[in-house]
Amino acid sequence: MASGQLSRAEALASSGCRHACHVMLYSDTKTQLFGRIPIKHIILMQMRFDGLLGFPGGLVNPSKETLEAGLSRELSEELGVAIPVSIEDHVDSCYAPASSSSSSPHLITHFYVKKMEEEQIREVERAAASTATDHGQEVLGMVRVPLYTTKGGGGLACFLSHSFIGNARSQLVDSLLRLNLVAPKELHKALTHSLKIQT
Ligand code: GTP
Ligand code: MN
Ligand code: MN
Ligand code: MN
Ligand code: MN
Ligand code: MN
Repeated sequence: MASGQLSRAEALASSGCRHACHVMLYSDTKTQLFGRIPIKHIILMQMRFDGLLGFPGGLVNPSKETLEAGLSRELSEELGVAIPVSIEDHVDSCYAPASSSSSSPHLITHFYVKKMEEEQIREVERAAASTATDHGQEVLGMVRVPLYTTKGGGGLACFLSHSFIGNARSQLVDSLLRLNLVAPKELHKALTHSLKIQT
């Protein structure tokens, strides 16, 4: 396990910590950009109220709900659909970097990944923009992650150069690698280029 990481059980045993659960929902797709660039996968992230990119999910109270039930509740609020998430979808748990307001208790973030059918993902996008109670408030909109690289170097590199909440950027990059959604070489190039865009 990487530093700062802990098992789901260890995380739940840590007293006095706050817990947040977020999920990467994704699907395969055969659609193409401009009719020629394969999109390959639809990965859902969101533009948060604070202007940062992150995954859907939120704060969970383990004394009142399981982590997964709490995550599902957050998904109803933010996406307008109650998507069941199970323990098998859990990827990792880790301590969030200590915030500047040191008075607030430590935050443990739990990350999940769930693969869905393309039509289910499209339904989530429709609901998030119409029936979700948080739409236009906590959540400014759902966005898809471009996994390709365009001739001008746009696409994934550009996307990764934006600002992300907490460690959402590494949760995304680690998932792309682990699930082989982008070839390691291409991912490495995009990561290198994204740092050049940022400066
Ligand atoms: P409220 O309903 O307003 O309380 O928000 P929320 O419950 O939806 O909480 P939020 O999604 O903002 O998550 C709570 C905390 O978890 C945030 O303040 C961030 O520190 C962190 N966080 C938010 N999104 C992500 C994410 O995608 N990845 C990671 N690792 N942390 C996140
Ligand atoms: Mn056009
Ligand atoms: Mn929320
Ligand atoms: Mn949230
Ligand atoms: Mn909440
Ligand atoms: Mn809320």
